[in-house]
Amino acid sequence: MNLKEILVSAKLNGDKQAWLTAYDYPTARLLGEAGIDLLLVGDSLGMVVLGYPDTVDVTMEEMLHHVRAVRRGVSRTPVAADLPYGSYHTSDQALANARRLIDAGAHAVKLEGCLPEQIKTITGEEIDVIGHLGMLPQHVREEGGYHKKGKTEAEAQSLLASALILQESGCCALVLELVDAPVAGIITEKLDIPTIGIGSGTACDGQILVTPDLLGLQPWFRPAFVKAKADLASPLRQAISDYIKEVRDE
Ligand code: KIV
Repeated sequence: MNLKEILVSAKLNGDKQAWLTAYDYPTARLLGEAGIDLLLVGDSLGMVVLGYPDTVDVTMEEMLHHVRAVRRGVSRTPVAADLPYGSYHTSDQALANARRLIDAGAHAVKLEGCLPEQIKTITGEEIDVIGHLGMLPQHVREEGGYHKKGKTEAEAQSLLASALILQESGCCALVLELVDAPVAGIITEKLDIPTIGIGSGTACDGQILVTPDLLGLQPWFRPAFVKAKADLASPLRQAISDYIKEVRDE
């Protein structure tokens, strides 16, 4: 079975997808060994690894570097990679850059927004594409922040229409970011492909989180919807203080 068949059959069986982001070899290896369903090398890389203010400045070269590292950490876990901002303006550019991510080791690519031509061109070459609707982080500067989507009837209808277009264009799954929970539920019911929510309620067919948010590794910023499962920044700081003390006391 290819990735799309696996995802659609999981949805039919009611099996929820647990996805996380990864950007490096050890994290990918640990998450793969823990049984995660899919790893996304997200362009959240920009914020959680590279120290940029948002995802907009992430380059193809940076994505490729991290996709290679993640792929070295897993053998069976599917790896998806974001096409970064500016890398899919035209269908030709989208396909060329999707191929580069696949050559670097990704099994699928993800792109933001309702861009059926780009998606059809990529899927037409047998490359799996994950769609992404709702809050689109690559547009955070125009939007002036991370705001919930689908709160008005017009916005909800437009999200549903876009979701159907993305399914029709060949997407194998759809990430819904910061979508009003009831609207995410309706989209989930109407689609045959799985919806993967982030800050969009529990009705989606699966969930994805940015791994450092889940693990409490970035105490200076945590989105309100994240229920962190650990506070790894504290033991990390403690271990480093212990090490510094030990070295200085020797
Ligand atoms: O870049 C990313 O990590 C993402 C997820 C938040 C879905 O797109």
